[in-house]
Amino acid sequence: MQLSQILFTQGFGTRRECAGLVALGAVRVGGEVVDDPAADFAPAGLVLTIDGVDWPVHAKAVVLLHKPAGYECSARPKHWPSILSLLPSPLRTRGLQPVGRLDQDTTGALLLTDDGALIHRLTHPKRHVAKVYEVGTARPVEPAQVERLLAGVVLDDDPAPVRAAAAEATGECALRLVLTEGKYHQVKRMLAAVGNHVETLHRSRIGPIELPTGLKPGQWCWIDPALAEPGAGG
Ligand code: URA
Repeated sequence: MQLSQILFTQGFGTRRECAGLVALGAVRVGGEVVDDPAADFAPAGLVLTIDGVDWPVHAKAVVLLHKPAGYECSARPKHWPSILSLLPSPLRTRGLQPVGRLDQDTTGALLLTDDGALIHRLTHPKRHVAKVYEVGTARPVEPAQVERLLAGVVLDDDPAPVRAAAAEATGECALRLVLTEGKYHQVKRMLAAVGNHVETLHRSRIGPIELPTGLKPGQWCWIDPALAEPGAGG
């Protein structure tokens, strides 16, 4: 594929802008400047360096964002900036979408991708992708509350009870909750249903993908698309 066409697929602008980037000498392949927009490369596994920044070429992009508080998971946010503003412009141009949503005040692991089929697979209720939440509660976590979360609580929009796949107190006012569904405000509503209240909420894992400790709030990293598949990682 022509180098300028590869840049185009990665979101670096119009075809003309991508050809211009190459002609200007802004693109390196294997450490060497390539200034011929028509130079031919196999895109699979290719790593470009654009204006000094490495860019692994992916047919479909999957990234993990450490969502900070104070951002909305929407392309058209109402009250807070969009999480998309935390991504570099090529990823925004490619139309990355969050896989599910976190509330404005929730922090932690958020996957984004331009692979619509992957979003569908990851959010389909039958796939039961486990999400791990670290919950800070307003009142001490009582053993009876943990039991009820595991046994199932009824929320106001559905008579069928929702259960935590796992729940354990991790401190006096702290709880680790594993959910395999993704209902609206699910953690907050489940905690309210057992008579407690969420003060802080952080998602530490989605399926096999753990938020790396080195990834600070607002930072993102590439994820191997195979690792993001439901059921990956055992
Ligand atoms: N449950 C919630 O209540 N909020 C989130 O952001 C995620 C899960």
